[in-house]
Amino acid sequence: MTVSSSNEVFLVFGAHIDEEKSGNGWVSGLIQEELSKTGDRYQVSSVRIEDREAVLRELDRVKPTRVINTAGKRGFPNADWCEDHKDAAIRSNVIGAANLVDCCFIRNVHITHFASACIYDEDESHPLDGPGFTEEEPPNYAASFYSYSKLVSEQAIKSYPNVLILRLRNPLAADLHPMNFITKLIRYEKIVNVPNSGTIMTNMTPAAVLLSRHRETGIFNFTNPGTFTHNEVMELTKKFIRPSLSWTNFSLEEQRKVLKAPRTNAKLDASKLEKTLAKYGYTILGAQDALEEAFVIMKAKGYK
Ligand SMILES: NC(=O)c1ccc[n+]([C@@H]2O[C@H](COP(=O)([O-])OP(=O)(O)OC[C@H]3O[C@@H](n4cnc5c(N)ncnc54)[C@H](OP(=O)(O)O)[C@@H]3O)[C@@H](O)[C@H]2O)c1
Repeated sequence: MTVSSSNEVFLVFGAHIDEEKSGNGWVSGLIQEELSKTGDRYQVSSVRIEDREAVLRELDRVKPTRVINTAGKRGFPNADWCEDHKDAAIRSNVIGAANLVDCCFIRNVHITHFASACIYDEDESHPLDGPGFTEEEPPNYAASFYSYSKLVSEQAIKSYPNVLILRLRNPLAADLHPMNFITKLIRYEKIVNVPNSGTIMTNMTPAAVLLSRHRETGIFNFTNPGTFTHNEVMELTKKFIRPSLSWTNFSLEEQRKVLKAPRTNAKLDASKLEKTLAKYGYTILGAQDALEEAFVIMKAKGYK
């Protein structure tokens, strides 16, 4: 535990059980870094979130005032993993998420749940250069098993009065963690080049803690306003940390042939998030500015 500057006690779910991996999930580690900066007390739980008795015991042991759930199966090296591990994806993303939210409800604890915005795909009314999908518009994408599991879990938990749902999209931070969108792009042989909404965690992690602190509830598109393309991420990677970087683009049709499951491309409307954060004096950066800022931080940290 860190030295406290508030009365909150955060309990963060999202730790690996496999000892060969490092102790934390990626987003879990980013949240812990932020809680260390803000001086809040926190503990990290390695309890499996679908284990009802263990979760209730953990809540009774730690007595958190806030729970943050980063536990979930995103799939490694990418979401195609979920096509071959459907039981594991359902156990973590659906049963686990619903169980954890329900246990927090029973113990009267506010929970922030990291969900996914990969439950939307561009359509005629939402071209990538047009208006983004708002939280009120029903999700329209479940063609990959990962997206399906995230859609079902969001539907299952969204009516609970104690839950804040933050929809991540292509999250990116100032590191080269395998779950970081930058790392994923660098590792692909070929990439598409499409504008998408994204979550620049360097700018958005403080916002997540702020929303939790203020007990916000409901669904939020947790993305920076605007979009960025795959090539823009690669160009900034080349400019700031890896001058030798080169890449090859291919078309969406070609991409479809090498993937097990189709992928989405979507723009999300972040105005509800912007307005809510403004109440607490926090301004989120537009996608382009946030992206550049993340690379400036990465360079300062010495990433190559
Ligand atoms: N990174 C992305 O691109 C992205 C995009 C959109 C949404 N998200 C969502 O954001 C959340 C965090 O993702 P991340 O990138 O931090 O992934 P990550 O690095 O794989 O972290 C997830 C953590 O959750 C743990 N976990 C998985 N199932 C669990 C369960 N049933 N009970 C307890 N812990 C469990 C994992 O441990 P084990 O490995 O031991 O299972 C891991 O430590 C996930 O729900 C993910 O779907 C991520």
